[in-house]
Amino acid sequence: ANKLGSKKERTLAMIKPDAVCKLGDILQMIYDANLIVTKAKMTKLTWREAADFYTEHQTKSFFNNLVQFMTSGPVVAMELLGDEAVSVWRRILGPTDSSTARKEASLSLRAQFGTDGTRNAGHGSDSLASAARELEFFFPSTAGQGPANTASYSDC
Ligand code: TYD
Ligand code: MG
Repeated sequence: ANKLGSKKERTLAMIKPDAVCKLGDILQMIYDANLIVTKAKMTKLTWREAADFYTEHQTKSFFNNLVQFMTSGPVVAMELLGDEAVSVWRRILGPTDSSTARKEASLSLRAQFGTDGTRNAGHGSDSLASAARELEFFFPSTAGQGPANTASYSDC
């Protein structure tokens, strides 16, 4: 922490396939929260990549539906930097289930752009350790590794 008590962190934010068309609105939410985008990549994840990213959930009943959804279109991965970026970005996202998120007073990203407990518009690292792993996944220190940034879409 610096002398003002702030703690600069980096976190991995991902815009899921159902919200990539809302990228402009989401960037506005990021800037309004005093976070800055320090890296970005649009990619269409392969099944293997999505399963690897969500490996902690591989035994869950929802795993196949989750990977199916995550490979259904392009995603946008970003490194966000700012004071307490991990928790700030998770707060912007809101509850995991978008239907639950819509019951809250303030309209979070998932409340606005998601649908349900799987199609929920965004991802955020849940700790500094997860952030380190997930940033290395999308933005590896070894040049030429990681998901290719070959993705495009045409309809919103
Ligand atoms: P989880 O890590 O619990 O939530 P969060 O994304 O808020 O960290 O779950 C990861 C993703 O798995 C979640 O964003 C959507 C999906 N998921 C389901 O499809 N069904 C479920 O019941 C849960 C808990 C998650
Ligand atoms: Mg999680």
